[in-house]
Amino acid sequence: MPLLAIETSCDDTCAAVLDGAAVLSNVISSQVDHARYGGVVPEVASRHHLELAIPVLDAALAEAGTGLGEIDSVAVTAGPGLIGALLVGLSTAKAIAAPRELPLIPTDHLHGHVAANFLEPDPLEPPFLCLIASGGHTLLAGVTDHRGFEVLGETLDDAAGEAIDKAARMLGLGFPGGPELERLAATGDPGAFSFPVAMSRDPGLDFSFSGLKTALVYICRDLGESETDDRRADLAAGFQAAVVDQLVTKLGRALDRGDWPAVALGGGVAANGPLRLAVGKLCEERGIHFKQVGRELCTDNAAMIGSAARFTDPLPYPQYLDFDAFATGPRGSR
Ligand code: KG4
Ligand code: ZN
Repeated sequence: MPLLAIETSCDDTCAAVLDGAAVLSNVISSQVDHARYGGVVPEVASRHHLELAIPVLDAALAEAGTGLGEIDSVAVTAGPGLIGALLVGLSTAKAIAAPRELPLIPTDHLHGHVAANFLEPDPLEPPFLCLIASGGHTLLAGVTDHRGFEVLGETLDDAAGEAIDKAARMLGLGFPGGPELERLAATGDPGAFSFPVAMSRDPGLDFSFSGLKTALVYICRDLGESETDDRRADLAAGFQAAVVDQLVTKLGRALDRGDWPAVALGGGVAANGPLRLAVGKLCEERGIHFKQVGRELCTDNAAMIGSAARFTDPLPYPQYLDFDAFATGPRGSR
């Protein structure tokens, strides 16, 4: 019997139907309205989720060739994320589960990014190291069990994607900036400007991206408007290389400290070509398996939530009726 999964933690309204580890459908509706504000506006996101939840659910059920009556459990992202956005998904899930007294599975969003790797085809078995880098999160997850992960390091300030989006904005690119920055960077010289090697003296596995952003502000200020405009490709290439360098350095350091037979990536930044290449090279040098899921399973999606739900305790009816979403999660094991 299929499981229905719902994800609304940020600006993507997502629904998926799974049969075990097989994805029967995975529908993602990305909200484009935020581009004109240069970032995600929480209240705008919540309102769009309200409008999109039912059409996206309908599409996911239709694509899976099933109906609500055949669904036997409902999984939903409970957090972390934007609280208003999460509440739309959670309320929708409760409204679907409660009338038929189905179990509800409240799922951790970051566990979802890890669990994207458990899906068919070619499910990855723990243990492995997972680098999650998105607009909201950047962390290294040590995965020894399907049911959770240990946070080995995380960003102390901006997420990698957040820094990339801000840099892209400074260079006059649209939102989200990652794909455009990558395109522009491909025509630039990554060595033309020197960006600080962030956290290079820090022996730990945490990340920091705010210094890179400040470095870009100062470089642009010194160059002046017209020179900045002429050198945009070099600036994009240098910034991107500095982000990738930090991510890969910390990943390499985490591999030095543990016996990890495989590496996986998650989050929107994992779609970045130079990052994938650099991680691939690192894994090849060390004889480690590099698991790459498709881009649609790296960015926010509901299939990954359904996958995490398979390893999360369900709440029986009516226990979940007063269950609440959470905006932030605890540091450490999840
Ligand atoms: O996981 P995601 O879709 O949503 C959350 O933030 O949870 O990640 C979005 C982030 C944005 O910051 C976006 O600019 C970045 O992923 N991104 C990229 C690329 N595609 C998306 N960053 C670098 N290179 C890309 N090709
Ligand atoms: Zn995410």
